[in-house]
Amino acid sequence: MTLTIVGSQLGDEGKGALVDRWGGDADVVVRYQGGDNAGHTVVEGGAEYKLSLVPSGAVRGTVGVLGNGCVVNPNTLFTEIDDLRERGLDPDVRVARRAHVIMPYHRVLDGIEEEVKADDDAGDEVGTTGRGIGPTYEDKAGRRGIRVADLLDPDALREKLEYVVPQKRALVEDVYGIDLTGSEAQSAPGSRTQSGGDDRAEAFDVDALHEEFAAIGERLADEGMTVNCSDYLHSRREAGDEILFEGAQGTHIDVDHGNYPFVTSSNPTAGAAAVGSGVGVTTVGAGEVVGIVKAYLSRVGEGPMPTELDGDADEEALADEIRERGGEFGTVTGRPRRIGWLDLPMLRHAARVSGFTGVAVNHVDVLAGLDELKVCTGYELDGEALDTVPTTTDRWERCEPVYETLDTWEPFDSAAVAEAGYDALPEAAREYLEFVADEIDTPVYAVGVGPDREETVELTNPFEA
Ligand code: IMP
Repeated sequence: MTLTIVGSQLGDEGKGALVDRWGGDADVVVRYQGGDNAGHTVVEGGAEYKLSLVPSGAVRGTVGVLGNGCVVNPNTLFTEIDDLRERGLDPDVRVARRAHVIMPYHRVLDGIEEEVKADDDAGDEVGTTGRGIGPTYEDKAGRRGIRVADLLDPDALREKLEYVVPQKRALVEDVYGIDLTGSEAQSAPGSRTQSGGDDRAEAFDVDALHEEFAAIGERLADEGMTVNCSDYLHSRREAGDEILFEGAQGTHIDVDHGNYPFVTSSNPTAGAAAVGSGVGVTTVGAGEVVGIVKAYLSRVGEGPMPTELDGDADEEALADEIRERGGEFGTVTGRPRRIGWLDLPMLRHAARVSGFTGVAVNHVDVLAGLDELKVCTGYELDGEALDTVPTTTDRWERCEPVYETLDTWEPFDSAAVAEAGYDALPEAAREYLEFVADEIDTPVYAVGVGPDREETVELTNPFEA
């Protein structure tokens, strides 16, 4: 069978810990979208692993696959693999030959576009991670992308670079008016996103790119890392292996179903597990689909957040407390995350779009000991009651949350509760979880009570459901 793990909110729901836990029951863990914009933290026996591209299952020794729906920065991939090897692990990572490659010019363009948007004061910058994700997916859709397979063929690589790089150079110089050769280049927009070295001009130099990426292709080939993803997963399934699909980011930053344009450029929702891996939709649909939920809400980057705790000094102090306790600082960028109450209209939308068979609710320990606990059960907009998220940013921004106040619970010993099971959770915490499950009509499969893999109360193992 397959298990698909999906972020229900805005990313950062703690997917890594569950992927790592349930990945132990899988034979292959597959990322199906996104790239090194993801930040997955896995804590194992007190050791912390921060991964952005290597599938979290690798910490457990499970084979990790970057599917065709991913955009891959090979330098990040090699750095993470090398770091894990230095720490005594032996990650087995395969990369789809149909996956697209994030090139240095994509990262530069990501930065330029954001800064240009920021400079026009319209407030329409997305707050991207600067990893070149959007520009790479643009080139994929525009049929001018470089794929992993191209890195294995130096002649094909040169031909593609000779076609695309002059276009990118013209975009920077003629549209954005930036001189890539002069001193202006060092301080121009986009320079903060440089991947290495301070000569940004190299990002637009066909010879330099060819040398670097042909060498990357050689290493990928030497290490036998590339696969025809669909065929590879088909053969693993034929052999009776179980597959876990690891979604990155979250439903509300999905390019189709999220808060456009404050979205990432891929589909974190469950349907993409099939498209982004080459495994049939009937196979994915016949498996389990688990939504990962944070017991409150956090957001990096711009965009509406009706339940944000930023109304007055008391709310801001509460947000600070939750941020500190929950460690709510971006894994990739280190940016402090915005904090809000749990938003059920968002969860209903997520459950419908991905067809959740269960949810895992994380960070329940972080809410312990609060004076007050609220959950948003619906919105009011122009006198109308809404139970899910409106389609435009403008309408979502104007939504007034309708709250239910629930009982709070005292801090508890997470390790002891995880060991003893669900009934050992404080009664008010169980009521909170049952309230959420009821409202979104989806059972709770697991409850996160701390960052360590062991600090999870499991009600249902999806591989045994
Ligand atoms: P991009 O994916 O770098 O293009 O960024 C687009 C939007 O998605 C920005 O608001 C980012 O902050 C957000 N984003 C991208 N990846 C993640 C993630 O893994 N967690 C949370 N937010 C993310």
